[in-house]
Amino acid sequence: FTAMIDLQIKSAIRDIPDFPKPGIVFKDITPILKDPSLCEAIVDNFVARVQGLKIDAVAGIESRGFLFGLQLAGKLGVPFVPVRKAGKLPFSVKQKEYELEYGTATIEVHTDAFKPGQHILVHDDLLATGGTVTAASDLIIEMGGIIAGFTFVVGLNFLNGKEKIKHFADKVVVLAE
Ligand code: PRP
Ligand code: ADE
Repeated sequence: FTAMIDLQIKSAIRDIPDFPKPGIVFKDITPILKDPSLCEAIVDNFVARVQGLKIDAVAGIESRGFLFGLQLAGKLGVPFVPVRKAGKLPFSVKQKEYELEYGTATIEVHTDAFKPGQHILVHDDLLATGGTVTAASDLIIEMGGIIAGFTFVVGLNFLNGKEKIKHFADKVVVLAE
């Protein structure tokens, strides 16, 4: 089951050299989105692999973390928390600056997005350096949340992103790496 989805994801991903900067090989997940049964299998795999974790909400990171994040929250029957790039959320926010594989950015979460003490599953499409999800999880913790775990469609092992979240060891799900 796990090995099959790994292969299906890898064969659907398209490598784009030198995007968005020279030297970066960009993993384009848009071919996955053209395959509804693969999308459904991805969400079902996440659901199966987070069984046993206490999850009160799923936080998805703009923008590609929204694609499967909302679907995952729906299947788990819990709220979805959008983690957005700076300046996009209209209500009061808490923010954090961070570095990722090809630059820096700032993320924000609405101050009423979840309640202190709730268990938040952090979801993104891809784990590269881990800068983005570390910033998101630090922000959630600062806001009183508890990290339930992490889910990713793809992990780029050579960038060691898993090292940054290794203290969550058995709560990190990466479907293809
Ligand atoms: C990409 C990706 C992850 C992040 C991973 O997002 O979707 O969020 O980079 O990189 P890291 O592990 O090195 O932090 P990006 O900021 O390019 O935005 P997008 O989802 O809107 O394309
Ligand atoms: N986010 C960070 N690094 C990336 C890469 N190489 N491809 C796609 N998304 C990314």
